[in-house]
Amino acid sequence: MAVKIEKLTEIARNAGKIVLKFYRQVTEYGAKMSEADIVTEADMESQKYIVESLNRCFPEIPVLAEEGLTSRNGERYFVVDPLDGTLNFFHGLPFFSISIAYVDEKGPCMGVVHAPSTNETFFAVRGEGSYDHTGKRLRVSTTAELKQCLAVTGWPYDELLQPWTQRTVNHFQELVQEVRILGSAALEMAYLAAGHIDLYWEVGLYPWDLAAGYLLVEEAGGKVSDVNGENFSLSTGRVAASNGILHEELIGNLMKCGELREEGRYEP
Ligand code: IPD
Ligand code: CA
Ligand code: CA
Repeated sequence: MAVKIEKLTEIARNAGKIVLKFYRQVTEYGAKMSEADIVTEADMESQKYIVESLNRCFPEIPVLAEEGLTSRNGERYFVVDPLDGTLNFFHGLPFFSISIAYVDEKGPCMGVVHAPSTNETFFAVRGEGSYDHTGKRLRVSTTAELKQCLAVTGWPYDELLQPWTQRTVNHFQELVQEVRILGSAALEMAYLAAGHIDLYWEVGLYPWDLAAGYLLVEEAGGKVSDVNGENFSLSTGRVAASNGILHEELIGNLMKCGELREEGRYEP
């Protein structure tokens, strides 16, 4: 069966219903790489449903999913974050999402990010634009002044990456309207695509955090690159995204924030 964005959207929305059953009910978690990097029953149930659904509909396409169970051996594959923003979810905060992308030899070609708590779904197909669940076309903001920007970043679990992130927060706080950390990379990219966020950067991420969000931003007229301005790649875990107008200023300022130390990066 040919992959259709409608099917991916349906699967993400159904996974959202599974996750919501656990929302504000979860009392146990397992720690992964660090105290803040956790996994709950909701992550596992959501992933089980998504992977089984994808395998049933598209048995020939491998799935790379966050919580184990991964198989990837082709040029084309799905990338799944069954629950992005688990720490928020566990604490009962509504900022979390489900992210599913379809990747071909040129990178992500379809992507969906679903936010169960607000019932918002954002999707994109390469060359066809980004939309929300009401059918509205997404467009990045037109903000042209740093001082009017809502800038967002994320706190990496890997402590080697934290000093750089801290410096970027200090640096940008002087330049923009406000710097925020919202805690779901996929949703932050979706909100940038929808024009609610102007600038976003983060390091220490994984393909499942970024694949769908990358396409959403690009197809909404924004720009996505590495934090040093080089081409974006799913395998580095580094992202700088903007409305395009301010991309040069974003990269120029990130480059003023000193060296980014990085070891032991995940390679998909
Ligand atoms: C996390 C979120 C968070 C980011 C972390 C990610 P998870 O994903 O995207 O915003 O700062 O680095 O790992 O663990 O909740 O799926
Ligand atoms: Ca994630
Ligand atoms: Ca996750």
